[in-house]
Amino acid sequence: ALMDKGNYRHFMAKEIHEQPEVIGHTLSRYIDLGARKVDVPGAAAIDFTNLNRILISACGTAYYAGLVAKYWFEKYARLPVEIDVASEFRYRETPIGKNEFALFISQSGETADTLASLRYCKENGAKIGAVVNVPESTIARESDVVFQTIAGPEIGVASTKAFTCQLAVLAALAIHAGRSRGFVNEDQETELVEALGAIPGLAVQALKSEIKIETLSQPLSRVSDALYLGRGTNFPLAMEGALKLKELSYIHAEGYAAGELKHGPIALIDENMPVFVIAPHDGIYEKTVSNMQEVAARGGRIILITDERGAAESGDVAQDVVIMPDVHEIVAPIIYALPVQMISYHTAVFMGTDVDQPRNLAKSVTVE
Ligand code: G6P
Repeated sequence: ALMDKGNYRHFMAKEIHEQPEVIGHTLSRYIDLGARKVDVPGAAAIDFTNLNRILISACGTAYYAGLVAKYWFEKYARLPVEIDVASEFRYRETPIGKNEFALFISQSGETADTLASLRYCKENGAKIGAVVNVPESTIARESDVVFQTIAGPEIGVASTKAFTCQLAVLAALAIHAGRSRGFVNEDQETELVEALGAIPGLAVQALKSEIKIETLSQPLSRVSDALYLGRGTNFPLAMEGALKLKELSYIHAEGYAAGELKHGPIALIDENMPVFVIAPHDGIYEKTVSNMQEVAARGGRIILITDERGAAESGDVAQDVVIMPDVHEIVAPIIYALPVQMISYHTAVFMGTDVDQPRNLAKSVTVE
């Protein structure tokens, strides 16, 4: 029954729709909703108070989860984070000092480069933690502390529910680190935990944008290039959106920090180039509106993913607007991941590509 697509055409569709439930399961392991506190099993083994730095290493979609976490650990726990793709990290011979915590993120727990990075850090005396979905995996076994995602088996090659569950765990861990280091007080913890607790309900609402997304995806299946823009924690999500378009729809896509638009990608904009903008109405929304005006002035087709307020203040520059529920800032990259996944899914379905088994890709890359 676990390998059953149920009423869905593809495992990917099923896995996208499972997210409210599996994120809820995962969160229930890491937060105490009744007490409105984080409660991260295993975290006591890491001395966050005396930590100098966190090193994060991962591949593919898991790497983008790590990039989001960097923003969180720095903002909420005032902890410097260094992050790299595992295939670079493992060969860089980076110095590892005292009181460093190395964190690896992997759905399968078997990715060869991630495992090699883990072993390098271990040999050099770092404490090892892993966010993995498969508890009996090699990466889990070789770690000092395992933070399991409870996403259930993920069959679709392109990661969806494992990614959002990784983000849920990492958010709880960042809040825990912030509490231990004295940068998150009790009231802030309450606020952040309540925000995380709202995710399953918000995810259900986010999934309701699917009909809109299906409609706007049909013409996308005929484009050859696309751009994704975002700021803050939505910048890694823009890269994840671009990766998904490449993996599933074979559309050449790039994810860019919206502020970097004028340092290059703006030269590519014309009426054939769809530009996806991930922009909840947050403290930097106005800056992103300026970027959209620059795109619109050059005839670019904008697909804006935002909330009601963002839509109202977008100055009508977007051809299509996908509306998300209002969310707390910490929750945005998790909720906004859903429309991003659905865009690549529906574009791929219209194109007729093999959604669950895209050409040339493997679910788990155990070769180097
Ligand atoms: C492959 C998969 C991706 C995944 C990456 C890392 O490239 O196609 O979906 O994000 O490996 O896999 P891991 O199991 O380490 O998360």
